[in-house]
Amino acid sequence: EVITTPFSFIASSNCILYEKAKPVFVDINPQTLNIDFQRIEKAITKKTKAILAVDVFGYPCDWDELGKIAKKHKLFLIEDSAEALGSEYKGKKCGSFGDAGIFAFYPNKQIVTGEGGVVLTNNKKIADLCRSMANQGRKLENEKWLEHIRLGYNYRMPEVCAAMGIVQISRIQEILEKREKVAKMYNKKLKDFPEVNIPYVGSDVKMSWFVYVIRLSKRYSKKDRDKIIKKMANKGIQCSDYFQPIHLQPFYIKLFDYKNGDFPICENISQRTIALPFYNNLREVEINYVVKNLKEIIIELK
Ligand SMILES: Cc1ncc(COP(=O)(O)O)c(C=O)c1O
Repeated sequence: EVITTPFSFIASSNCILYEKAKPVFVDINPQTLNIDFQRIEKAITKKTKAILAVDVFGYPCDWDELGKIAKKHKLFLIEDSAEALGSEYKGKKCGSFGDAGIFAFYPNKQIVTGEGGVVLTNNKKIADLCRSMANQGRKLENEKWLEHIRLGYNYRMPEVCAAMGIVQISRIQEILEKREKVAKMYNKKLKDFPEVNIPYVGSDVKMSWFVYVIRLSKRYSKKDRDKIIKKMANKGIQCSDYFQPIHLQPFYIKLFDYKNGDFPICENISQRTIALPFYNNLREVEINYVVKNLKEIIIELK
């Protein structure tokens, strides 16, 4: 069993299934949208091997608390920091917490290599295992190229893709600053509009903005939210209902028989989220157009 969050992109949970382990979901903190560390100990059983926490939307988890729980129960701690390249928790970079972390470089990420990602670890055993698994299970330690010691995959990143990543890493500061500028413009224009909540940012974190997700206030339903997204689309503005809970994805319902109400905080929040258009070079006139239409559509619905 691996303890993880139901409010994430499906990959963070699927990787547990690939290892023939069982994802055990724990509900989220409604402010940070990350796994609620206060609920974790209740979910630990004799079968629990690890905690896999996700820095959702780039917002760092409570790593001090997660670290204490993992240590106390002798569990591996894994950080899915796919969305948090550049984020910091108490002055320390995301991706560096736990036994291993990851970054992903799919086209919607802060850095893009087409496909692929990286694993981060200070543990040589884990590093060697990952290198071998990514390379058809080869025995790489003694350069035994044609000796295969485990069932591996072809998860090698093509060099052309890696080259794109290296160039972008060299200007990561500029990329993060541009994204922060866009997020701040949205914040400024939406913070006094009572029908929505802008993303929460605590004083002990530094955000790397992966996406810009607002939440409708409590009186709005999923139906309202979906209507708003549709009406925004009619104005040429692409928004998204981001994320839908993992446990309610058809594949997970089929596998584990989950139902509505199993993780009520996650479900309640996911019914009222709207991801607004977000990318490095979004201009203020475009943000104004998004915000103006969003406000009009919501007021029309009231
Ligand atoms: C939370 C999270 N985990 C993992 C991934 C990695 O997914 P992929 O393997 O498709 O790059 C992503 C990104 O898409 C993600 O958002």
